[in-house]
Amino acid sequence: MELEPSSLCFLIFTLTTAAVFFLLCHLTATRRHRNPWCTCEVCEMYLTAGWSNHHANICDWYSDLLRRSPTKTVHIHVLGNTITANPDNVEYMLKTRFENFPKGKPFSSILSDFLGHGIFNVDGDLWRFQRKMASLELDGFSIRSFAFETVSFEIEDRLLPLLLSASETETRVLDLQDVFKRFSFDCICKFSFGLDPMCLQLSLPLSEFALSFDLASQLSAERAMEVSPSVWKIKRLLNLGSEKKLRDAIAMIDVLAQEVINQKRRIGYSSVHKDLLSRFMRTVKDDKYLRDIIVSFLLAGRDSVASALTSFFWLIAKHPQVASEICEEANRVIGNRQVKSFEQLRELHYLNAAVYESMRLYPPVQFDSKFCQKDDIFPDGTLIKSGTRVTYHPYAMGRMEEIWGPDCLEFRPGRWLKEGKFCPENPFKYPIFQAGLRVCLGKEMALMEVKTVALSLLRRFRVELAGNVAGLRFSPGLTATISGGLPTKIREISMGAPC
Ligand code: HEM
Repeated sequence: MELEPSSLCFLIFTLTTAAVFFLLCHLTATRRHRNPWCTCEVCEMYLTAGWSNHHANICDWYSDLLRRSPTKTVHIHVLGNTITANPDNVEYMLKTRFENFPKGKPFSSILSDFLGHGIFNVDGDLWRFQRKMASLELDGFSIRSFAFETVSFEIEDRLLPLLLSASETETRVLDLQDVFKRFSFDCICKFSFGLDPMCLQLSLPLSEFALSFDLASQLSAERAMEVSPSVWKIKRLLNLGSEKKLRDAIAMIDVLAQEVINQKRRIGYSSVHKDLLSRFMRTVKDDKYLRDIIVSFLLAGRDSVASALTSFFWLIAKHPQVASEICEEANRVIGNRQVKSFEQLRELHYLNAAVYESMRLYPPVQFDSKFCQKDDIFPDGTLIKSGTRVTYHPYAMGRMEEIWGPDCLEFRPGRWLKEGKFCPENPFKYPIFQAGLRVCLGKEMALMEVKTVALSLLRRFRVELAGNVAGLRFSPGLTATISGGLPTKIREISMGAPC
């Protein structure tokens, strides 16, 4: 259809007027919780990105602000966002006053195009239903052995051969972040849907599904960084720029999620099928809802595990003595055999400590936000007005002397051990998997996956950094992703030899 120039002008005028009207209405409505015109030093730093002159990442800037705050809590006026690194406040919002700090509408509207009504994006009954179904599945003994078998197969048959081939050429540089994303995508698809996308074959391009997934996650996170939601809402209305890209990425995710559902219907989802989606499909008949469940579980299980593994290997490459201690412990406890079960992994206390320590410094989910429903007061005395976005910040918490002592910036797995045994910390001081009523449901599975990969690789290979040596820079996204990946060179070592 061709438009007359006069009709086109009229259309542009109408859309622009609507956009301005919408923007003004929105700004007025949100001014109660935020002050978009604030000119204080911190807000100016945020708006001009002045923080980037002193810090590599925005999370480093927030850590610095929080460290200097006497209460370990700060408020960014232009965002209407109270950010805390105070464990008492974290416990208060995630447990004591859980009902008053839901995900809330503003958060779910930011993510609703991507996540729909999936578990990450809902409160109330929708959340309770998915939580109950998923916990029934994830807590069982048989699912643990299924998960262990899935991960072991992926390591033995795909990951180790791939690294072996990379180690054969001295000069070959391998992006471990890309490898771990492919690895965890295969694992979570097999585990959650009983389907194998076979991404861990570098000869294949990363599937369009996985690429669209990365893009949708990044663009959705960028929405949250806008000073006013009206900005992305108008762009979405006009289907412009990043919002157009997001719409296209989501369209691709929708097609492929539907394909997953169709395939499951063909294969069957009766009680003999152990995967998570089969369990949901026995109860849920609505394809849109199933799509949302699929997307949330992919987000939960893929990026977080890949992120944990990537920063673990970055730290290990810089601390080879930790790799040696992990291998020594494994040789002492299980000999030079492979780990045989979920339970056997628990005997490896130093390995567990090294994984916990790595996520303390580099949490896969660097921060997590809720919205305050009714006016409240944090234990540190901070007044929280209804409608305020409240964020707890695990990345900053891992860098607090008050929590971890003067050596908080050092990678020191020993801090988790007492007489050689792993001692967990209070989860509100270490909310890497969140804590309280919405604690991560895949925690045990994630730890098993990270530890099994870490041990299998460290016993066979030495990983050397071929870039990103000085420090890590993160890309915006819902989960921490290293900008530029993790370029490495892989060297084979013989099993049982000191690594
Ligand atoms: C190292 C890996 C992982 C980390 C650090 C992690 C961390 C988290 C965090 C911080 C949350 C809270 C997010 C929010 O409410 O916004 C969460 C929730 C969740 N995680 Fe994980 N996760 C990991 C792996 C996994 C895996 C492998 C699965 C599934 C197999 C999983 C399943 C879930 C689910 C279902 C929720 C939602 C819980 C709820 O809202 O009630 N996670 N996780």
